Amino acid sequence: LLQCKLTGQWKNDLGSNMTIYEVKETGDFSGKYLTAVSASPLKIEESPLLGFQHLPYLSQPTFGFTVNWNFSDTTSVFTGQCFVDEYGKEVLKTMWLLRSHAKNHGDDWKATLVGYNTFWRKEELMD
Ligand code: BTN
Repeated sequence: LLQCKLTGQWKNDLGSNMTIYEVKETGDFSGKYLTAVSASPLKIEESPLLGFQHLPYLSQPTFGFTVNWNFSDTTSVFTGQCFVDEYGKEVLKTMWLLRSHAKNHGDDWKATLVGYNTFWRKEELMD
């Protein structure tokens, strides 16, 4: 079966680490995110995330979550899908938006970055 669960530890192509705690029966979950990179000059700190995944588990669910960066005044949203690849490994294919803080209305146009991230389930050796 194509089982794909979000619960656990993940690492992405940038080297960022993410932990997702228990997914509730309503599909909501929380977790923490340690980004490897930042657009901000401030020291990176682990930040909380909140999201939803579609249920049931026994498929390849879509999901979305928000990261509230607690070391900068920015917010990220990720949306994606959990897949089981051709080797049977779980992989999260996502797109994200990163909203920075615009000083005024006129700067709104340049305040949002967009990109892709792929996440793999972390194994003990992946640190
Ligand atoms: C900031 O720069 O203000 C906060 C950190 C943003 C990190 C971004 S979110 C999208 C991309 N994927 C990551 O794992 N890190 C960057």
